[in-house]
Amino acid sequence: MASLVASRLAVLALSAGLLGVGAHAGTNSCGSAGGYDETFRNPPEIVSQNGVLNATLAIEATDFDVASMSVKGGYVYNGLYTPPTLRMKPGDVIKLKLVNGMSDQFTNIHTHGLNVSPLGNGDNVFLHVMPGETFDYTIALPKTHPAGLFWYHPHAHGFSQFQVYNGMSGGLIVDGLLDPFPQLANIADRTLLLKDSYVQDDGTIPAEDDLDTGHASLRTVNGQANPTLKIRPDELQLWRFGNIGANRYYELVLNGHTMYEIARDGNRHNQLVPMQQILLPPASRSEVLVRGGAPGVYTLRTLSISTGPLGDQYDETTLATLVSEGSPAPFVALPASFPAVPDLRTKPIARTRVIRFQEDDQGGNFAINGKQFDMNRVDTVVQLGDLEEWEVTNETGELHVFHIHQLDFQVTKVNGKEVAFTGYQDNVNVPYADDDGNVGKGSVTLRIPFTDPVIVGKFVYHCHILEHEDGGMMATIEVQE
Ligand code: C2O
Ligand code: CU
Ligand code: CU
Repeated sequence: MASLVASRLAVLALSAGLLGVGAHAGTNSCGSAGGYDETFRNPPEIVSQNGVLNATLAIEATDFDVASMSVKGGYVYNGLYTPPTLRMKPGDVIKLKLVNGMSDQFTNIHTHGLNVSPLGNGDNVFLHVMPGETFDYTIALPKTHPAGLFWYHPHAHGFSQFQVYNGMSGGLIVDGLLDPFPQLANIADRTLLLKDSYVQDDGTIPAEDDLDTGHASLRTVNGQANPTLKIRPDELQLWRFGNIGANRYYELVLNGHTMYEIARDGNRHNQLVPMQQILLPPASRSEVLVRGGAPGVYTLRTLSISTGPLGDQYDETTLATLVSEGSPAPFVALPASFPAVPDLRTKPIARTRVIRFQEDDQGGNFAINGKQFDMNRVDTVVQLGDLEEWEVTNETGELHVFHIHQLDFQVTKVNGKEVAFTGYQDNVNVPYADDDGNVGKGSVTLRIPFTDPVIVGKFVYHCHILEHEDGGMMATIEVQE
């Protein structure tokens, strides 16, 4: 839905360009020791203590800066465009106080990717925290919970895009991803949360109805435009990428470097997966090992992407700059042996379903299997203990993103063709065309284990392009004992 407003575009291009220059101001020629300062910052963190993570997220209309842009009266948590990352361990309990300081819309909190209960005051997206209300969440992580990067965001149907677009989304880390690899115990741990923002001429974020998924916007990493990260030649670092914006796809490339993906969506792979390019649809996370290359300056970019004839065109953008300099770090080998992950293709399936993603010819009125979202309807009933196979089909002219709450799945096929098994995920791109280019014929095939008793209850699955979720491309599911 691309309608570009020229003046805003120009302002954005200008500020992005200035920022690009600013990030390098005061630096010397490439490769000279100490010539570059690291400007990259991890988000602030709240760390659990003695098994409990206590946090308050208070929403208020605040003036804040996103890189060089000033936003007037945007809705964010605790006055921050990049709110604290919540860091905890398996078995911990999250005690989160949500304060809704918005005057005109309800909200709530979803802990995206966590394998936790959807009931009561847990990860329950059917709760409505009304304007002026405060709500206390208690979310208990099982002791066996996977480690990695997750995130939190509001799940207020009809307002999800607006609230996340304002800046209401943050990271959540369950510690332990590198535990099987003692040689990596002390490597740098970097969180790169990707969001985009555009402000109108009057300094405000557009209202829900005026948001446009195709509008040019400033891409940021932890709210910074093109920050500089430093590394020594040969040094290994962990980079946790999270796409925590409302609508936008990323296709990540780090010049001169292979990214060794170790986990997807907070699920450790069964092997290291070397990537030159990482497609990161809205809500996906990719955790990678990066080894510092020869001394020099490299860019982290997102490539231009078309999301289809009914979708949007996103331009290539530099997200960050990597400077490799200094004496080479002691060489640490990449991990070679990984804990096994059960391959769900070897297990019997209890039933199959077809989940059809649909929209009208104008790219509006989003639906799943002919129905728009209704929280009072139960669309899918599953028996606890069952392994199911779902074929998710894309009957439209643009990309969609399949996401299901409370659990993870294995992708077995894309467009009917088997894919290699490397682990689980909670979010997956659904192509709009088959391998012969027939639009409206794309699909992914998933094995979904409804086996963990913690998931019993009612929750949702949906497209994670939040414009589409708000537009009705969401369904309810109930897992019954
Ligand atoms: Cu990020 Cu319904 O979730
Ligand atoms: Cu979710
Ligand atoms: Cu969609």
